Amino acid sequence: MPVITNIEDLKRIYRRRVPKMFYDYAESGSWTEQTFRENTSDFDQIRLRQRVAVDMTGRSTATQMVGQDVAMPVALAPVGLLGMQHADGEIHSARAAEKFGIPFTLSTMSICSIEDVAERTSKPFWFQLYTMTDEDYVRRLLQRAKDAGCSALVITLDLQIIGQRHKDLKNGLSAPPKPTLKNWIDLSTRWMWGINMLQTPRRQFGNIVGHAEGVDDPSSLFEWTAKQFDPALDWKKVAKLIEMWDGTTILKGILDEEDARRAAEVGANAIVVSNHGGRQLDGALSSIRMLPRIMDAVGDKIEVHLDSGIRSGQDVLKSIALGAKGTYIGRAFVYGLGAMGEAGVTHALRVIQKELDTSMALCGRRRVDELDRDVLLVPEGFEGRWQQP
Ligand SMILES: Cc1cc2nc3c(=O)[nH]c(=O)nc-3n(C[C@H](O)[C@H](O)[C@H](O)COP(=O)(O)O)c2cc1C
Repeated sequence: MPVITNIEDLKRIYRRRVPKMFYDYAESGSWTEQTFRENTSDFDQIRLRQRVAVDMTGRSTATQMVGQDVAMPVALAPVGLLGMQHADGEIHSARAAEKFGIPFTLSTMSICSIEDVAERTSKPFWFQLYTMTDEDYVRRLLQRAKDAGCSALVITLDLQIIGQRHKDLKNGLSAPPKPTLKNWIDLSTRWMWGINMLQTPRRQFGNIVGHAEGVDDPSSLFEWTAKQFDPALDWKKVAKLIEMWDGTTILKGILDEEDARRAAEVGANAIVVSNHGGRQLDGALSSIRMLPRIMDAVGDKIEVHLDSGIRSGQDVLKSIALGAKGTYIGRAFVYGLGAMGEAGVTHALRVIQKELDTSMALCGRRRVDELDRDVLLVPEGFEGRWQQP
């Protein structure tokens, strides 16, 4: 077993172990993938101020996100189809997060159901909602999340319609994969994945099949979801959902100051500055580039989180120093999950925490709440002279 020292190590193993269809599903952005690429390259543009002769004993990465204690300001982002990256992937990820002391967010489009995850974990997790046109289904879904003890609802706002990802169309992405010759050939070199998958009954969308009207078999599912995502979602509906949940609510997918202001007014507890990991509007700016402007607009009104492009503890540090109270990782933990299940997710979290802790110390800070812009060197024009006509 190679020594894992960074997220890239996990990605290399992940690529070898998981069917190409699911690797491609994670490792892609929409259209030209410009936003997907810039999410990471923009982090690289920000540098850190090295400080010396500062007492660095008694350091801690612990803090809070939406009032909940977290071992570091990082949550696992909602990611669909985790159970296809590794058998029972949602359960493995939730357990790793729970043991580490950070939140796990279960996607509406998960393979393991809300109940599956609740039964196999002991701490509350967060639930992510895609808004659907079938209001009855949404009401029942929220009730199921409540009954399972979910401690926060994350409402995703940037996927009323799906951004085209070329590879998924070319690969014929499905869960489980269709028994085509191409898929059999691919699977023959990923036999461990296949063996694990044969041992679990969870191979379909657990929150949907058997719960939503007219979805009893997986073949009708993609059709159903394409029709079900609510294109008419507006702020009135968002307000209604927040009221219906009646608990901690986080609005995910905010990338614009005006939307951030609306989100702050609608009664949510936090927003996530996000472009869905570059999977939706290609050509949008990266989350880290938009963060300072959004902080200026609503930083004193609502808690701000960030995702998209985080691959290291230094990326977390940069986000927090620019004002975010918390961050989420998507692909960084998916690589770990696909590489080696729960242990791989734990590896990813350890890598990120170690980088965060060491970088904080070398910047002369001992606690997350001491991180501010003063630790950063941000290139002139980073926030951009992007003019609206
Ligand atoms: C494979 C994959 C599936 C995703 N599925 C969902 C989902 O079901 N719901 C959601 O709100 N976001 C989803 N996202 C977006 C993530 O929650 C998050 O915004 C994104 O991964 C952050 O970017 P990063 O992967 O660069 O960390 C998905 C992302 C990936 C990579």
